[in-house]
Amino acid sequence: MSASSNIVRRALLYVPASSPKMLAKSSSLAVDCVAFDLEDSVTIDKKPEARANLQRLLAKPVGGNMKDCAVRINAIGSGLAEEDLAAVCGAPSLDTLVIPKVNSASDLHWAADFIQQHRTANSADGSALKPVTILALIESARAIVDLQQICTATPLLSGLIFAAEDFAQDLSLTRTPSLTEFLYARSAVVTAARAHNLRSTIDLVCTDFRGDDGTRKMQEECLNGKGLGFNGKQCIHPSQIDIAQRCFAPGEEELEWAVRILIADEKATKMGKGAWALDGKMIDVPVVKKAKALVERAAACDIDVGGKRKQWGTQEPE
Ligand code: COA
Ligand code: MG
Repeated sequence: MSASSNIVRRALLYVPASSPKMLAKSSSLAVDCVAFDLEDSVTIDKKPEARANLQRLLAKPVGGNMKDCAVRINAIGSGLAEEDLAAVCGAPSLDTLVIPKVNSASDLHWAADFIQQHRTANSADGSALKPVTILALIESARAIVDLQQICTATPLLSGLIFAAEDFAQDLSLTRTPSLTEFLYARSAVVTAARAHNLRSTIDLVCTDFRGDDGTRKMQEECLNGKGLGFNGKQCIHPSQIDIAQRCFAPGEEELEWAVRILIADEKATKMGKGAWALDGKMIDVPVVKKAKALVERAAACDIDVGGKRKQWGTQEPE
């Protein structure tokens, strides 16, 4: 299994690390993953201040309900990445590094080597620091062509993120509401991540975030991404978090179906039946596996699976 095998990142919220107000706000948000940003939301003259803000913030436990505390550094080769990594790599609260503009496996080799050398060396009080995982941003044609090598570059890699704006710039194409121009790249990203057992596949940013239109657009995009195989979405504003986290969690009906299958399957196994039926449909090993994965994901999303099990405790195989 890959790094961070239990992590759920339905929403990944970028928080500009140069904004004290937004940094403070992040600790009050119930979001799976916060990615404190040192890259494109921070102007060049604010980079030192942003790094210092993060050093202070991540030295102690971060507040709120975030499951994964991430930092997006500047791109490897930008001349800024080394200082970014040096600032945050030894921070006790750090879980994940988001590496932007990953173009080839060598970018990840460099980052993983740096982490391996500095993460242990920097533990201030000598206590063991938790392991750090990596999320790679895929935002160029070159990265799409090199996905196989990128996915196998380091065991620290726990997921891929597709970024539409830089990708559109690289290919000189224009983003349209249908997103069809990204179909090949997005499918390639989720397929490669699945093939290499990477836990997270995080979809493009929805740039609309205000009012009813913003909500509708975000919902549409989440469903579109889920349909392609993504299991999370990048967010830029707190208003987008709930929409993403609801969409990428198992729905009520799906969970009910899965729980009924697991309960009936336990009974069927005791009766020595490998294949049986529920609601007139044949159930066998692959269906049970799917149900099991769905229930595990629901539990990781803090959904009350125990309550559902109690409700369906009398379910029998047909
Ligand atoms: N993280 C944490 N808090 C945020 C936030 C974010 N990404 N975006 C907004 N907020 C906070 C605001 O500070 C404000 O807090 P308050 O209730 O204490 O006043 C509240 O949420 C409502 O924000 P709002 O006034 O609607 O938005 P804004 O005009 O302040 O900010 C953006 C709009 C787009 C500038 C801002 O959301 C942002 O910078 N997002 C991140 C952009 C980014 O990271 N881009 C790079 C990655 S693609
Ligand atoms: Mg980008």
